Formats: sequence, C-alpha cells, structure tokens
Amino acid sequence: MLESLSSKVHDEGRQGEAYAPVVADGREFRKKFYIESYGCQMNFSDSEIVASILNDNGFGATGNYAEADLVLLNTCSIREKAEQTVRNRLQVFQQVKDNRPGMLIGVLGCMAERLKEKFLEEEKLVDIVVGPDAYRTLPGLVAEAETGQKAVNVLLSRDETYADISPVRLDSNGVTAFVSIMRGCNNMCSFCVVPFTRGRERSRDAISIVRECTDLFNKGFKEVTLLGQNVDSYYWLDETNGRAVTFAHLLEMVALVDPSLRVRFSTSHPKDITDEVLQTMARYENICRYIHLPVQSGSTRVLQLMNRTYTREWYQAKVQRILSVLPDCGLSTDIIAGFCSETEEDHQDTLSLMEYARYDMSYMFFYSERPGTLAARRYKDDVPEEVKKRRLEEIVRLQNRLSLEKNKEDIGKIFTVLIEGDSKKSAADWRGRNSQNKVVVFPKGDAGLQKGDYVQVRIDGCTGATLIGRPVI
Ligand code: 5AD
Ligand code: SF4
Repeated sequence: MLESLSSKVHDEGRQGEAYAPVVADGREFRKKFYIESYGCQMNFSDSEIVASILNDNGFGATGNYAEADLVLLNTCSIREKAEQTVRNRLQVFQQVKDNRPGMLIGVLGCMAERLKEKFLEEEKLVDIVVGPDAYRTLPGLVAEAETGQKAVNVLLSRDETYADISPVRLDSNGVTAFVSIMRGCNNMCSFCVVPFTRGRERSRDAISIVRECTDLFNKGFKEVTLLGQNVDSYYWLDETNGRAVTFAHLLEMVALVDPSLRVRFSTSHPKDITDEVLQTMARYENICRYIHLPVQSGSTRVLQLMNRTYTREWYQAKVQRILSVLPDCGLSTDIIAGFCSETEEDHQDTLSLMEYARYDMSYMFFYSERPGTLAARRYKDDVPEEVKKRRLEEIVRLQNRLSLEKNKEDIGKIFTVLIEGDSKKSAADWRGRNSQNKVVVFPKGDAGLQKGDYVQVRIDGCTGATLIGRPVI
C-alpha cells in the first residue's frame, strides 16, 4: 500500500512487464518462453540477454504465458513489496501449470539466491532458479528440469559481463535502447541488497560496448542509455595497448559513434562522478544534459548511517559543480524516507535539500529493511510505518511542486526532441524526450515526421510530468 505512493514517479514502476512476441530473424523455434521482469532497468536489460541465450537454444518468445513451455520471472529484491508481488505471480503460474504439467517455471535475478530453498523445496513454486551471473547455464538447467530434477545455479561471478552476447531487443520502440556496461556493486550502502544479490562490480569490455552501440545505430536506434549500478566507477583495461578506459573515455567513445546517436547513462554515485565526465558531457552535444544523482537523504547524520560517504554540503557542492559546467543539465534523484533512526529534523533536511537541488524528478521510496544488509544487522528499523508514510507523502508532494515549477520555466523555450512514438493519450500527438530527459508531447500535424526523427519543439504548456508544445517549422 505504502509502495503505491511512490510508484507514480519511480523507475521501478515498470513492475511485471511482459514482453510481446519477437519475430526473430526468420529462425524457427521448437518451443516458447514467456518472460516477465520486475525492478530496475538492469533487470529488463538482463531479460534481453536471457532472450538471446534462449533464442540460440530453440526457444522463441511469446507474450502469452498460457501457451509457453517455459515461464520466467526476472525478480527484484530491493524492497519487500517487490518480493511479495513475485510470490503472487508464481501462484498464478502454478495454476496454469496444473493444467499443463509439461510447463516449466523459473525464477531469475535478484531473488534467486535468497529464496532458492523456499521456492524450490518448501513451497514447490518453481522448477528452475538462476542467479544474475548464471544465465549462460539456463539451457542446461532447462534440460535438467525437463527430466524432473530441480535445477539451480545462483553462483555469482567476478568476471561475467555477457560482453559477447547480443541482447534480443524485446518490446522495443526501435528508437531507444539500454546497454549494460558493468555489473554488480562494491559500494555497500547500508540499506541496499544489491551488492549481495548481484555481486562484485565488474566492467564490460569497452570495445564490445561500442560495437553494440554502433550496431544499434545501424539498425536505426537513435539513443542508448549506458547502464550500471555505479557507472562512474567504470574501469576497463585494454590489454592490446595497456590503456585504461574510464567512464569519461567510454562516454566519449560512444558519443563518437555518430553525432545523431544520443547517449544517456544511469546511475551515477555522487562520490564518483568526476569533473572529467562533466567536461566530456559539455564537449559533446549528443551526450544528454541529464544526470540521475541519487542523494537518498539530506541529513549528513543519516547519510553516514547509510554509508553513502558524502555529506549534505559535499552533495550540494557537487550539484553546483554540475550546474556550473552544464547550466542546462536536468537533475533527478532517489530518496528514501524513514531510514533507521531518522528524526523529524533529518526529514526536514531531506526536504530542504530537495529545494536546494530543485530536482526535475525523483524516485521516492520509504525504507524497507532487507535481510543481510548492513542496516539490518546494525540498526533498528525504528521509524513507525505511519511516520514513514507521512514523510514519503511530504516528499512526493514537494517533488510534484518542484517538477511543475521546473516545467513551467521551460514554457517558451525550444528543445530538440527525439520522437519515440505516439503519445499515450492520443495517436494524433507524438511523444518524445528532450536532452534533459523530459517527456514532450506535440501534435503530429502534417509535417511528415516519423518515430526516430529529431524535431525542434517550442513549449507552450505543461503538467508536472509532461511538456506540451508545437513543432517549430
Ligand atoms: N528500502 C527502500 N529503498 C531502497 N533503495 C535501495 N534499497 C532500498 C531499501 N532497502 C532505493 C534507493 C536506490 C534505489 C534504486 O532504490 O533509493 O537508489
Ligand atoms: Fe545499492 Fe548503493 Fe550500490 Fe546503488 S550504489 S546498488 S544503492 S549499494
């Protein structure tokens, strides 16, 4: 219930999205798989790797689980609610399986390690459990499960990056794509389960990243988002010439693929985003003016408990630095309300920091204790649920006000908008985004524009979530 409050503006609002069938380059498939993904963008990106592995092994995708031979749930553990949702879905699939005994059900992703015994043995909800670093073994595990055995591989790896696998773009708009550049996380924020579910941080071979982006561009894609839990600590050593590739270098390499390929990235940790990255962004117009910079809390005391390694003042200076190098940069953040021991004063610090940074958008959550994390071991989850809820409401209300104010400031401006498709509300309007990542809606008119085109749009209205404009002819 509390969670739904935050869903309006949070990334992981893409809950349980299933993929439409894929017509895969004329290949014949013996069997069908269905995959539903939960959680962060990385999980959605992983599902595209899984689809590629399955296509190579005779499985084609279907958007209808009732006809699938293999039903997969790519799961998220970041908050308790996400886990509950997955359990409910598994029960629905079990009912289908009762009438189709040959059907196999698998759990992938972040819940795999923690809940493998529960799902397989105690509740007998699934046949296959595969962790995020073991997707290459999925075909073997399916074969094992077909013989009636329970098939599990939740081993984490220090070097798996799936660099050589070409993701199958599932449910794609053909214009924007996500490209995974690293996996895992070494940061150990005390509230976060990711370092445990996804393992150590490792960076993917830069050459394979540039190749994937070039390939996407050649297929007509116009925007890539480079994905990692902490992209600014990207580091890859090119053994052919001994050159180290940092995130700033990688950004430049991808920006050089083509000036008409937009480049975005997510997520940045405030402690790691360098001046070099900001300067590289300033040098290339096709690197979008938008940074997602999770703050988590505005109180230095809470930030310390969260192990974020920066203070409120340090974060504020980072925001100033970003805006001095990139004055028109869009900023968004992640905020957690009601972390262990958070006082009313700490909460006010969060609100005032939001006012300071004037975020265009935020992903807002209330704290949900995750087993095994530093916070679960060290601190008491002592902020009562109704207090968490009220604080989250105040945060959401403030963000709604800030988003509307920021959008109003854009009225009268002209932006270059990349068209991504029809507006959700009307097929007579296009929907796209500007460099700052704001959604822009405008009438199609008879300008002969197409999905994937860039168009200059003058803004003449807005809501808190959308800019509304007209093409400049
Ligand atoms: N409770 C609430 N929110 C969390 N996040 C991560 N772990 C938790 C948790 N235990 C949020 C953080 C992070 C985003 C992806 O999810 O804000 O940046
Ligand atoms: Fe979790 Fe912190 Fe790593 Fe993000 S940076 S994945 S919040 S540990």
